[in-house]
Amino acid sequence: MKRIAVLTSGGDAPGMNAAIRAVVRAGVHEGLQVFGVRRGFSGLIAGNFINLEARDVGGILQQAGTMLGSARCPEFRSEEGRIEAVRQLGAHGIDALVVIGGNGSQTGAHQLTELGFPVVGVASTIDNDLYGSEITIGVDTALNIALEAIDRLKVTASSHQRAFLVEVMGRDCGYLALAAAVAGGAEAVIIPEMEIDPDTLAAELRGAYQRGKPHALVVVAEGAKFNADRLIHHFAEHRERLGFELRATILGHVQRGGTPGAFDRLLATRLGAGAVHRLIAGEHGILVGIGNSQIVTTPLVDVVANRKPLDLSLFELARVLSR
Ligand code: F6P
Repeated sequence: MKRIAVLTSGGDAPGMNAAIRAVVRAGVHEGLQVFGVRRGFSGLIAGNFINLEARDVGGILQQAGTMLGSARCPEFRSEEGRIEAVRQLGAHGIDALVVIGGNGSQTGAHQLTELGFPVVGVASTIDNDLYGSEITIGVDTALNIALEAIDRLKVTASSHQRAFLVEVMGRDCGYLALAAAVAGGAEAVIIPEMEIDPDTLAAELRGAYQRGKPHALVVVAEGAKFNADRLIHHFAEHRERLGFELRATILGHVQRGGTPGAFDRLLATRLGAGAVHRLIAGEHGILVGIGNSQIVTTPLVDVVANRKPLDLSLFELARVLSR
């Protein structure tokens, strides 16, 4: 193996740049020539490769986003698109590919391995919903951004005795919401894995006021059936019966662009270098992730076939501690 390529795909996550840097520098250290692919799988199909030397990835460790660009690529869903991607890799003399991304990206990685091309995945998504890694690149930074918003909203909520709702990202996974609710001391949390209806929520919030709390704060996952939009409508429609107004803040993409914290820089660096070391050891068709603080690998076939379970003991903890 002499030439490898690296791409970032799907939603950007704080720490992706640190992972690119680690792939490039670990690769160069091992005597490999490393190429970056611009704009994810789209760039692969278009043959958009750039040679990356150690100096080319200087100054990106502390930057959010991805210097290579990312994309969600509909052409890659067709077999013709994937065959063209493999052809381009061959035409550029690339022996193996590192794919940094979440579920959709690792599905793409797996499809390339099915066409016989050696690929190693690196676990990166703020959603923390990827099977094969206890935590993924970007989660910790995204969580800290959500917590900063929650801490600020609590101040205003307490000053005005108001009820506030914060919607966080996560697609159809409740991890970010649940972790933010526990670490932010929310009065209630709504996640797709444990839905509650608006009347039950209203009763929980009334309970918080009755116990003498000066505020009530709810964290809701974007993927919940009653997300921020639906809850706000419901509370506005039934205001008299429910007894109070609920105000919402939807954090949205603000959570993706934050400066990666120490945890994400370290995780991304370890996983990026780990991917190169596995390729050199002759392994591919795997995801490189973290488990019990150690680098672990999982066959991509298992990654795409399984859904990571959410630890619901945190949900119980959030309820107990919101007293
Ligand atoms: O997968 C990361 C994520 O930020 C999800 O939390 C969110 O649902 C989705 O991406 C948004 O995607 P886009 O940036 O393409 O709108």
